[in-house]
Amino acid sequence: MAISYKKTVRVPMNGLKDESGPPVDLRINDRQNRVDTILIPESALHRRVSALGREIAETFADMEEITMLVVLKGAFVFAADLGRAIYEAGGPAVTYDFIRASTYGGDLKGAGETARKVKISALTADVKDRDILLVDDIIDQGLTLYHLRRQLIHKLGARSVSICTLLDKLLDDPPTEVTELRSRFNVDFTGFEVPDVWVAGYGVDAGEDFRFLPCIISVDEDFYRWRT
Ligand code: IMP
Ligand code: MG
Repeated sequence: MAISYKKTVRVPMNGLKDESGPPVDLRINDRQNRVDTILIPESALHRRVSALGREIAETFADMEEITMLVVLKGAFVFAADLGRAIYEAGGPAVTYDFIRASTYGGDLKGAGETARKVKISALTADVKDRDILLVDDIIDQGLTLYHLRRQLIHKLGARSVSICTLLDKLLDDPPTEVTELRSRFNVDFTGFEVPDVWVAGYGVDAGEDFRFLPCIISVDEDFYRWRT
């Protein structure tokens, strides 16, 4: 299944302006100053997810059903909204399955780290001979999606695996191994390109915090790096 898609929205370092009103107050207790800035407000997320829904509906217009394989935990909010956006766009029916992949566990990555183990567990479906839309929250060094895609095809017999990620992190000075790894597979649908900072919200976590937020924030990396 050949798909080409490259209309990503790039998020500036200081975040997108929320046109819906005054600066968003997160209404959370942040005495420890964990939140750095709001990178993507709720309204911008909704607009972009609707657009992605239209693009996916169009790409798969001749299919009766799309199987979304949602990478837990980070992609659960995005995938829920995306399924409804595909429906709103008149696209094919969506079935949901889930796969658990942990790359960094509770901590953040180390600089230039490329060799972490990607642990796969809790696959809820037999993917043999199926066309899969793998939905993840964020691509950072590419380890997770690279290994998941390979295993789905070579070990578990999926017929095809397309990839949709909400965020694509533009790495500052990636080591050659990372650039090389990322060039080995294609990301078919991307919501936003974000700067090389740790982000959270809209299902995405920083040490399990902030998944509940309706927007994407950047966090104080030192706080999470040194917390045990
Ligand atoms: P990769 O394997 O380096 O591409 O990392 C991908 C996975 O790490 C994502 O699926 C996320 O679960 C997690 N991750 C990477 N960057 C961030 C971030 O900034 N915030 C939260 N999770 C992240
Ligand atoms: Mg993940």
